Amino acid sequence: MKTVKQNVHYHVGNENETDMYSEILNGLKSMPKSISPKYFYDKKGSELFESITMLREYYPTRTELFILNKYKYEMADAAGADSVLIEFGSGSSEKVRTLLEAMPQLKEYVPIDISKDFLYQSARALSIEYPNINVHAVSADYTAKFEMPKLESKRKVVFFPGSTIGNFEPHEMGEFLKQTAELLKPGGGLLIGVDLKKDHTVLNAAYNDQKGVTRDFNLNLLNRLNRELLADFKLEDFSHHAFYHAEKGRVEMHLVSLKDQVITIGDEEIAFQEGETIHTENSYKFTIEEFQEIASLCGFTPKKVWCDEKRWFSMHFLEVK
Ligand code: AVJ
Repeated sequence: MKTVKQNVHYHVGNENETDMYSEILNGLKSMPKSISPKYFYDKKGSELFESITMLREYYPTRTELFILNKYKYEMADAAGADSVLIEFGSGSSEKVRTLLEAMPQLKEYVPIDISKDFLYQSARALSIEYPNINVHAVSADYTAKFEMPKLESKRKVVFFPGSTIGNFEPHEMGEFLKQTAELLKPGGGLLIGVDLKKDHTVLNAAYNDQKGVTRDFNLNLLNRLNRELLADFKLEDFSHHAFYHAEKGRVEMHLVSLKDQVITIGDEEIAFQEGETIHTENSYKFTIEEFQEIASLCGFTPKKVWCDEKRWFSMHFLEVK
């Protein structure tokens, strides 16, 4: 029998040590109540997010793809011919394909994602489509410390699209950028998608779509808690509330309790007053200068920035000092 040399390799970068029940319970016992947006993405939640990206009002995904496609050769040039491309939160590795069209010489790609099964499946598919690229799939929470596989290439470039950075609190963003600079080493690059500040009407519409998909996405969190943590939230007793908070520079999403009520979760009880909310997401928006300023303070030199004509979304290339 002939043995076929595989160009896909699987690695465990770190183990998921967070206990969902205690983390959620802590958030629900806090004042004000909150839950991390990372819990949106169960199977149904990931499908709903996918639908959000196709909504008329939700501009970020299609605008970022437009920028990527328009400037992919300049981005490939900035990334360099013999670098390894590392993607944080690669999911289905859909966006990177546009970049790969402009990088036919790329030898190594490292997709990193927390949901292992989906990551390994996507990495395998990509390795078949790109037989000349060695794909090293790393299952890890990239916001924590993780192990990297041994690589051929000297220079590293991290690809972090989607404006996921907008979900970090300012102090977390600083920590994340510094940790990324440390992984990259001086001369390494970061190609990152950052959503921009803009007309509040546009922002509010993007998180309050007419079809109610964003509402369903937000409320699905309660379904997940009911199923996975034996809670008894009644979805009809909560409503979706999303708005741009100009002073804080962020879109906030909340679930509003429509009445005084007590819910159970596992063997704990949580009381809600009418109008009280669970804060489920912050999505920070930046100006180009604000983002570059923060990145500079965290060890990066801004090298290049690409935008759409309306300046609704930006992609930055930065190098570690
Ligand atoms: C995936 C964090 C970029 O903040 O726009 C979309 C998630 N939340 N609609 C965003 C989201 C509600 C999204 N990010």
